[in-house]
Amino acid sequence: MPVITNIADLKRIYERRVPRMFFDYAESGSWTEQTFRENTSDFDQIRLRQRVAVDMTGRSTATKMIGEDVSMPVALAPVGFTGMQNADGEMKAAKAAEAFGVPFTLSTMSICSIEDVASVTTKPFWFQVYTLRDSDFMQRLFDRAKAANCSAIVITVDLQIMGQRHKDLKNGLSAPPKFTVKSMANLATKVPWGLEMLGTKRRFFGNIVGHAKGVKDPSSLSSWTAEAFDPSLNWDRIAEFRKMWGGKVIIKGILDAEDAKMALKVGADAIIVSNHGGRQLDGAVSSISALPSILDAVGDKIEVHLDSGIRSGQDVLKAMAMGAKGTYIGRAFVYGLGAMGQAGVTKALEVIHRELDITMALCGETSVENLGRHNLLVPKNFGGDWQD
Ligand code: GLV
Repeated sequence: MPVITNIADLKRIYERRVPRMFFDYAESGSWTEQTFRENTSDFDQIRLRQRVAVDMTGRSTATKMIGEDVSMPVALAPVGFTGMQNADGEMKAAKAAEAFGVPFTLSTMSICSIEDVASVTTKPFWFQVYTLRDSDFMQRLFDRAKAANCSAIVITVDLQIMGQRHKDLKNGLSAPPKFTVKSMANLATKVPWGLEMLGTKRRFFGNIVGHAKGVKDPSSLSSWTAEAFDPSLNWDRIAEFRKMWGGKVIIKGILDAEDAKMALKVGADAIIVSNHGGRQLDGAVSSISALPSILDAVGDKIEVHLDSGIRSGQDVLKAMAMGAKGTYIGRAFVYGLGAMGQAGVTKALEVIHRELDITMALCGETSVENLGRHNLLVPKNFGGDWQD
């Protein structure tokens, strides 16, 4: 096994181990993938201010997200199909997150169910919901999440309709997958992955099959998903979901200050500045460049988190120093999971933690809570006064 020192190392192993269609699912953005690319390249435009001769002993990356203690401000983002990247993937990722002391968010479109994840964890996790037409099904999801002791609901508001991802269409990645000759041939070469998948009964969407009306088996999934998302979604409906759930709510998919104000109005506990990892509106701005205007609008009234583009502890530090109160990793943990299962997720978290800790020290900071704009040189187009 090669020495793994960064997230890119995990990605290389992941790419070799997992069938192409699932690698492509995780790795692609929509249309031209411009937003997907800029999510990461915009982080690179922000420079760090080095400070020296500052006592760096006793450093801590610990803080809180929505009032919950976290060992570093990095939650695992909800990612669909996680259990196809590695057998029982959501259960493994949730266990790794719990041991590391960071939140795990289970996607509605997960392979393992809410109950599966609850059965292998002892601390509350977060549950993500899409805004679906079927209120009864939504209520049942909320009830199941309550029964599983989930401490927050993450409502995704930027997926009333799916962005077009060319690779998924070409690979036949749908629910359930429609295997092409090419994808079957590729699958046949992924022997360790395949043997592990044969060893689990969890190969379909565990929160949906057997739970949603008319979805008794995987073959009826595609007609359900085509109809399930609610194109008539509006803020009143989001307020309704909040009431139905009755607990903490995080709204995910905010990229505009006006929408951030609406999320505040409906009583969200936190918002996630996110463009869905560049998977929805291609041509939209990167999350990190959207962050300053959103913080200006609501940052003193609501917790603002950031997702999309985080691949290192340095990115975490930049987002926190810009004013975010938490970040999410999606692809970065999926690379680890696909590469090495639970140990790979732990590895991804260790890598990011180490990068965050060392960067903090070299910036002359001893606590993640003291990070601020004074640590950064921010280009003018991100609301800063520096241009390289
Ligand atoms: C689902 O939310 C996806 O981005 O595939």
